[in-house]
Amino acid sequence: MKPPSSTSCLLLAPLGLLLVVFVLPSLRPSRVGADGLGALCARRAGYDGWYTVKVAPSAPAESEPEFSLLVGVLTMPNRRERRDIVRLAYALQPRAVGARVDVRFVFCNVTDPVDAALVALEIKRHGDIVVLDCTENMNDGKTYAYLSSVPRLFAGNPYDYVMKTDDDTYLRVAALVDELRGKPREDVYLGYGYAMGGQPMPFMHGMGYVVSWDVASWVAKAGEILDRNDTAGPEDLMVGKWLNLAGRGRNRYDLKPRMYDLNWDMDNFRPDTVAAHMLKDNRRWAAAFRYFNVTAGFKPSNLYHLP
Ligand SMILES: *[C@@H]1O[C@H](CO)[C@@H](O)[C@H](O)[C@H]1NC(C)=O
Ligand SMILES: *[C@@H]1O[C@H](CO)[C@@H](O)[C@H](O)[C@H]1NC(C)=O
Ligand SMILES: *[C@@H]1O[C@H](CO)[C@@H](O)[C@H](O)[C@H]1NC(C)=O
Repeated sequence: MKPPSSTSCLLLAPLGLLLVVFVLPSLRPSRVGADGLGALCARRAGYDGWYTVKVAPSAPAESEPEFSLLVGVLTMPNRRERRDIVRLAYALQPRAVGARVDVRFVFCNVTDPVDAALVALEIKRHGDIVVLDCTENMNDGKTYAYLSSVPRLFAGNPYDYVMKTDDDTYLRVAALVDELRGKPREDVYLGYGYAMGGQPMPFMHGMGYVVSWDVASWVAKAGEILDRNDTAGPEDLMVGKWLNLAGRGRNRYDLKPRMYDLNWDMDNFRPDTVAAHMLKDNRRWAAAFRYFNVTAGFKPSNLYHLP
């Protein structure tokens, strides 16, 4: 699917203002609906949804983003609850300054009719889903399908960087953007470097890694990957193998310890986190939201009381 472009969001902003002024007072309950659009546009066009609607007319125009990043969260069609949580995790982050960042949920072909109907609703409501031409199976070429499809799917509006991450990773986009800002835009392979065989980072851990657009474009064209049957297997290790054999992704950056796995028995979050991985249940997502103050500072009301 083709996502709405930045321009369409920009065009929608004045419309949003009209909606706020004229329609919403009579439509209070649908407020959440417009918030979703605001959040989506916030990341792509530098708008901050409702907040900006109040100040935008007199505020100076946001400067051109310095670079752009596509974040692909690999997940599965039926993992709706998790997707909902992860979507909130991205929508409620402080927006990244100076970068266009789009977050998309990525999965293979939807085969179940119930999933198909419910995913259709998500697409209508959020417009943040990409369905690849592959069969669901984590270690059977999904990452290859993702990285090799992106250059074609987004050819009309390419990104500087393409990220693959998972739905058990809490990614702090602004922190990642700060890391990327001063990096080269080409031949980049960045993530949690996994030391192996005496090498410091022959591959990046699957919790989340970034390649530059040229690297993704190379993957899309590299017949050798298919010839070697190198699409199946542990996806993170395989990506490293493709790049190592071809001498690609030579600008490597290891974001340890700012990217890390949570311990099984301890929520070892750190304040300078770029990505925390292993958020495998709601309790851990709740712990993350508390730790990073996402739950703090909402408006008091007599309509709710939370412990
Ligand atoms: C995925 O779905 C498309 C469209 O229905 C179909 O053409 C394609 O063969 C499917 N691919 C796989 C791997 O199942
Ligand atoms: C590729 O791998 C699959 C699964 O391991 C196997 O069935 C197939 O025969 C392999 N193909 C080649 C060309 O090695
Ligand atoms: C969350 O807020 C508290 C209180 O303001 C602050 O001390 C703490 O550093 C914040 N945590 C993070 C991860 O920013």
